[in-house]
Amino acid sequence: MKPAIKAALTLLAMVSHPGFGAASAAPADLYKARCAMCHQSNAQGLAGTYPRLAGRVGAIAQSPEGRRYLALVVLNGMYGKIEIEGGTMSGMMPTLRVMKDSEIADILTHLAKLQAPAKKLAPFTAAEVAAVRAEGTIGGSKVVAERARLIAAKVIP
Ligand code: HEC
Repeated sequence: MKPAIKAALTLLAMVSHPGFGAASAAPADLYKARCAMCHQSNAQGLAGTYPRLAGRVGAIAQSPEGRRYLALVVLNGMYGKIEIEGGTMSGMMPTLRVMKDSEIADILTHLAKLQAPAKKLAPFTAAEVAAVRAEGTIGGSKVVAERARLIAAKVIP
């Protein structure tokens, strides 16, 4: 099998298999298993391709709407053109809805702490993620539209 095809299949297995990364893994390990292949192991992203999460997640999580948005991204993925850090990006993040509410909460809490946020944040809870999950599936392009709305409203930076 060609290396590129093998890599693509591995990625597909990782994002689609619910059990990947062990059931009660530490948040940093969950991040490595679920997010790092795109957002990079240091969560600094890749310019023009994958957004930086270190620092950004903590900043976005300053408001309840920002916190909802973060859960929305992980549950629905994200697809389309976004404005970010003075430039634009047009990428595709798959839905990671197969993850448990508690795993999503743990990863977001872990990311929010990576660079000191302006104010101390309460940890994300499984109940908080479950409430966003209960809103139903909206699809990645609606998440992009919601992001634009929140930026215009100065809710997220
Ligand atoms: C296959 C690659 C990939 C994986 C895996 C992935 N992402 Fe993403 N993520 C992206 C891309 C690409 C975007 C930007 C989408 C766009 O341009 O519309 C994005 C956007 C985001 C955003 C929005 C950032 C902002 O500035 O609004 C957050 C938050 C995020 N991802 C968190 C995560 C978390 C947490 C995980 C793991 C649970 C994860 N991502 C897994 C590719 C990925």
